[in-house]
Amino acid sequence: MQNVLDLLRQGRNSAVDTLLELLSIPSVSTDPDATDDVRRCAQWVADRLTSIGMPQVRIIDTAGHPIVYAEDLSAGPDRPTVLFYGHYDVQPVDPLNLWTTPPFSPEIRNNKVYARGATDDKGQVFLHLVALDALRRANGSLPVNIKLLIEGEEEIGSPNLAPFVSKHADMLACDCVVVSDTSMFAPGQPSIVYGLRGLAYLQIDVTGPNRDLHSGSYGGAVQNPINALASIIASLKDEHGRIRIPGFYDDVLELTVEERDDLAALGHSDERLKSDVDVADLFGEAGYTSIERLGARPTLDCNGILGGFTGEGAKTVLPSKAMAKVSMRLVPHQRTADISAKFIDYVKSVAPPGVTVTVTDLHGADPVLVPRDTPAIHAAVKALGETYNAACRFTREGGSIPVVLLFDTVLNAPTVLMGFGLNNENAHSPDEHFDLDNFHLGAEAAVRFYTYLAAPTA
Ligand code: BES
Ligand code: ZN
Repeated sequence: MQNVLDLLRQGRNSAVDTLLELLSIPSVSTDPDATDDVRRCAQWVADRLTSIGMPQVRIIDTAGHPIVYAEDLSAGPDRPTVLFYGHYDVQPVDPLNLWTTPPFSPEIRNNKVYARGATDDKGQVFLHLVALDALRRANGSLPVNIKLLIEGEEEIGSPNLAPFVSKHADMLACDCVVVSDTSMFAPGQPSIVYGLRGLAYLQIDVTGPNRDLHSGSYGGAVQNPINALASIIASLKDEHGRIRIPGFYDDVLELTVEERDDLAALGHSDERLKSDVDVADLFGEAGYTSIERLGARPTLDCNGILGGFTGEGAKTVLPSKAMAKVSMRLVPHQRTADISAKFIDYVKSVAPPGVTVTVTDLHGADPVLVPRDTPAIHAAVKALGETYNAACRFTREGGSIPVVLLFDTVLNAPTVLMGFGLNNENAHSPDEHFDLDNFHLGAEAAVRFYTYLAAPTA
């Protein structure tokens, strides 16, 4: 293996240069104007797979953005087959004015690369391609059979990949799945995530009078959509952080005593979290520690709100419309479809008179727990431990990756969530970045992972 690691180290600069190319493509999946750029990004990924020697690279069209798929099964039937999953799409970049440098003009500062998608997920996908390239160049072949599935719709809930996985279960059959799209518990502390939350994301539209009104001439006689929306939002949670939607907690799997002990032993610091985000107090559901609330308890948050006059100065107006986007993070065994239905019923039931309220389900993801005792996890623990020279942590994360549950239920394959990001690298927010040490160490860990998976005693 040393020859592979040597090759990786020699190729560090050129790997970063190539990563910058990928990061300069604005593949914002939710933006209808970016469709061509998203496709250009798929093409870039496909070309890259070809250039690192993957046979049979395909760009597969869907009703939305394309899937990039490639496989190399030449390691043979005696070797395990790994499905690598990642995404090349990224989140929107607004507010643009808060970026130090433009989001698609990647720049390296302080050994970190700044760009939208740097950590989520282009940098983390690319480090696997770097690892596979080095393995093939050093040894002439790969130690495992590999299938690569890299999609362009993860950030919008994988609406087309989910049916694709179900339809092509045979093609995707594998012994395990590996994903690098999560965070490490802390710098220098490699982590395997064994639980991801799910998501239900909805939009509430409140419509009152047929036009904006003078608030003096009409205020007091006509319901104000913003006031109505505010009362709806306020009724979603109580002052202890409990969600008031009937039946919301019915299917929540409680943490076991052992899990609570394990999470407590991670050494999470509320003080560090407060200073990281610069707040005087933390807030969340009473009765749970913040590390429990972050990974293993459901939440409800308003993600955006719109209505009325928001320009400089004052305008006395009673607006016609108001809108809010609300998301709920879910935990096993909640289901996104069930929670969305309960949310819609509840919002309708608390809507005040005098306005029309419509609720639209935008997208979602089911939560997942992955097994912690599989050959792939053992290979990852060994690979991460050796690479970082530190014990590997097992954590649960608050984010969602929609298709991971399907790898379990449809492919019947255990997933390893082996991430190299850090939670304060500003994923989904301005100045997203990825630590280049973790990029390079991630590639080394991936080399070790694929190698140990093929030969656990190597
Ligand atoms: N990489 C994240 C998921 C993630 C974030 C895992 C933080 C662990 C920690 C992923 O790309 C993501 O952001 N997913 C979306 C999915 C949603 C749009 C269905 C999310 O969690 O908001
Ligand atoms: Zn991601």
